[in-house]
Amino acid sequence: MKKIISFIGARPQFIKEALLGRRVRERKAWEHVLVHSGQHYDLRMSDIFFQELGIPQPAYHLGVGSGSHAAMTAQTMLALESVLVQEKPDALLVYGDTNTTLAGALVACKMDIPVIHVEAGIRMLPENMPEEINRRIVDRVSSVLCCCSEVARQNITREGISRGVFVTGDIMYDIFLQMRPLFPADGMLKNLAVRRSGYVVVTMHRNYNVDCKERLEAVLAGLEAIAQSGLEVLFPVHPRTRKRMQEFALEHVAPHVRCLDPLGYLELMALVENASFVITDSGGLQKESYYAGKRAIVIMPDSGWRELVDTGWNTLCAPDAQELQKAVAGLDLTVRPPADVYGSGNAADAIIEAVAATLSI
Ligand code: UD1
Repeated sequence: MKKIISFIGARPQFIKEALLGRRVRERKAWEHVLVHSGQHYDLRMSDIFFQELGIPQPAYHLGVGSGSHAAMTAQTMLALESVLVQEKPDALLVYGDTNTTLAGALVACKMDIPVIHVEAGIRMLPENMPEEINRRIVDRVSSVLCCCSEVARQNITREGISRGVFVTGDIMYDIFLQMRPLFPADGMLKNLAVRRSGYVVVTMHRNYNVDCKERLEAVLAGLEAIAQSGLEVLFPVHPRTRKRMQEFALEHVAPHVRCLDPLGYLELMALVENASFVITDSGGLQKESYYAGKRAIVIMPDSGWRELVDTGWNTLCAPDAQELQKAVAGLDLTVRPPADVYGSGNAADAIIEAVAATLSI
């Protein structure tokens, strides 16, 4: 049986791995060896996902932790290289666009180990965002590129990449559908004392927004205005954002916004499914809101999930208090979501088949 190392390290990757890893094991498609870089390491950023989603303990934990981009990427590369030398896998599978993804792809391709990129072909401005740099490089060195949509495939075709490209649909839709019956909606609404559709869920952690004091302050001011207008604003705060709020002394500018600790997948989805709408700069949550039938205001100059913006379902908004209030006022909450934008919930099987076809597994 062939051996593939699945290399994960950050929150969105745990969610995707939960589903794909399980399906690979069910189908005995290949020997699936899990390696965790340690980029995310907290109980709330890492462990909770393993517990909730039943992800097996990784065979290796590289313990890389936080640091500058260069330090994090370099340490991950060094630690992963030893694992690849020892394990001699037939391929390395990476997800998305984090520093873990980049480090994994660089090490493997230099060792002549084929790279499988799940969520290939996403492109968004500004081009100098860390995630965008990571995406472009990883797509360039990958042998199997699994795209969530036709738009993603066209993005990489335009860059001259056409071999090994597959439109598989979005694996986050698979897991959303499978886990939906387990979303603890009643418990969450009760614990937080909110009523269905009486609140908005906010997440924000992109360095584009939170590493800039003016942008972060402006968004917090916009959220405060929404909270004062009568909608509850629930804001599970990412550690990066929490740190910046402290550094910039912005912890008290939005007293009516309810800042929470980061949530697990099931808890967050339970809240999203019962929210009025969502405000976010997260790539994953833009799609998950759509899967839950909720509209999202996206606080970014562009979205990798173009289909959701082009169909008018999601709305781009500048990090500005007035613009945010305008976007909220302009939301029509009665329209129906567009159908099947990212496949029909069988992306895991499509990815397994794409890998098998390309790497003769
Ligand atoms: C990373 C990814 C981003 C992904 C996001 C999901 C990169 C460049 N970015 O961003 O694409 O959407 O993860 O969450 O890889 N921290 C903790 N505990 C943790 C992890 C981080 O406190 O478990 C703190 C660290 O001190 C760090 C900060 O959060 O300074 C940011 O973490 P980092 O891994 O740099 O990137 P994210 O902002 O999480």
